Amino acid sequence: MPDLLQIGGITDTMRERLAAVFTIHQLDNFDAAKITHVITNGHDGVNPELMASLTNLKAISVYGVGYDAVDANEAARRGIIVTHTPNVLNEEVATTAVLLMLSCYREVLRDDAYVRSGDWQANGNAPLTRSADNQTVGILGLGRIGQAIADKLAPWSTTIVYHSRTKKNVAYTYYDSLAAMAKDADVLICITPGGPSTNKIVNADVLEALGPSGTLINVSRGSVVDEAALIDALQSGKLGWAGLDVFEAEPSVPQALRDLPNTVLLPHVGSATVETRAAMGALTVDNLLQHLKDGTVISAVPECTEL
Ligand code: NAP
Ligand code: 8YV
Repeated sequence: MPDLLQIGGITDTMRERLAAVFTIHQLDNFDAAKITHVITNGHDGVNPELMASLTNLKAISVYGVGYDAVDANEAARRGIIVTHTPNVLNEEVATTAVLLMLSCYREVLRDDAYVRSGDWQANGNAPLTRSADNQTVGILGLGRIGQAIADKLAPWSTTIVYHSRTKKNVAYTYYDSLAAMAKDADVLICITPGGPSTNKIVNADVLEALGPSGTLINVSRGSVVDEAALIDALQSGKLGWAGLDVFEAEPSVPQALRDLPNTVLLPHVGSATVETRAAMGALTVDNLLQHLKDGTVISAVPECTEL
């Protein structure tokens, strides 16, 4: 049986399907020259040294849509196909973005604590919150998930605007300047890929433009937001609120962010439901099985579609 290197966790269903056709190796015990296939996740990817050492590698299947932790250009150069899981998680990640936005606006964590602590009974009604209706929402990265976020926000009568490198064929207003969009938006939702081209593009200027009554939502990658600038903006009141699913150095989250009352923090669970992980896991495995069968795959990353 061909040799598969497993990086990161997989579900029992995924393991059963893979074990029927591959010998599965763990990172602490494998022979680099024998490995033909790798299964990994968006966080761990395949580091450059490991990829260089896998001289017979043919395919890398990423259990997630974001593949910034894999050098896909280097893989393509070496004839290694990289696959990922587009579309099957769009709705779930969009739900997470909307959940974070609504939690910030309606102060869900503060009010939950108000009930649990007995403050409601002791001190009377909780302070008022802000309405999430009729807001201008700037989407940074109007791709598959960005569009799903826009669709899910429609019932809140939002005005959607967006920034990406290229203008899309949609009815929403396009901004070629991220800072200009942030200035006009009440909420900025980040949903681009990670990697060098988006590194810290949400910087101090963008956060200041979003302003004291503005809300930042990040469900993309921690690298997209300058975390030090974000902490400074939230502490100084230059930015109002932040709802974050992703962080610069996961799973480490700065104490300053954890101490702030105007943040809602999630442990990178954008796609982490039983249903969506099952769909992602099935596609991740299907890509490997199909590659084994005939050398093709279902969902190659754009850098590898010509292979
Ligand atoms: P996608 O369809 O490829 O959309 C990405 C969007 O980002 C496109 O609109 C793209 O448009 C834009 N973009 C790319 N580079 C950019 C840049 N340098 N500046 C501005 N815009 C840029 O990808 P998707 O399937 O929606 O997924 C997006 C990302 O979400 C993933 O790569 C991953 O990092 C993240 N994600 C997070 C979770 C989670 O659990 N939190 C789950 C799934 C995905 P242009 O190329 O035209 O600019
Ligand atoms: C996963 C993600 O948590 O798809 C992505 O890009 O960030 C998440 O769905 C991650 O890939 C780990 O598998």
